Amino acid sequence: MKKLIIINGPNLNLLGKREPEIYGSNSFEDFFKELQKKYKSVKIVYYQSNIEGEIIDKLHEVGFNYDGVILNAAAYTHTSVGIADAVKGIETPVIEVHISNVHSREDFRHVSYIAPSAKGVITGFGLQSYELAIQSFL
Ligand code: DQA
Repeated sequence: MKKLIIINGPNLNLLGKREPEIYGSNSFEDFFKELQKKYKSVKIVYYQSNIEGEIIDKLHEVGFNYDGVILNAAAYTHTSVGIADAVKGIETPVIEVHISNVHSREDFRHVSYIAPSAKGVITGFGLQSYELAIQSFL
């Protein structure tokens, strides 16, 4: 059975409550339960942290024994050399995802430190961005 992990970065614990006009009104937990039901033949694990170092630790932990990482590093996408280096340093391929289309938003969101080391980037499809990443790994 393939093992995938979804890693969500800062403020994504507030999905459903946070700026719903941008990020929608569903909580990630509800969406994740649906994903697990729909993709029963895959082990999908979910991890969220608001702390940069914890995201790096999780990448190290899964990065040599999982088949894929689906990473929404949220604001750290645009700032974190540490997370980018972790993505470079592990073996497991990483797909960068975003709920919103970061390219239609502020200029600072057009920069990603992670994208050059990612297998690919999926941005702007709402929560479906995560599902597209799962499908790409299957
Ligand atoms: C985000 C986009 C980022 O620019 C922002 O900081 C987030 C969420 C997205 O999923 O659309 O927190 O990664």
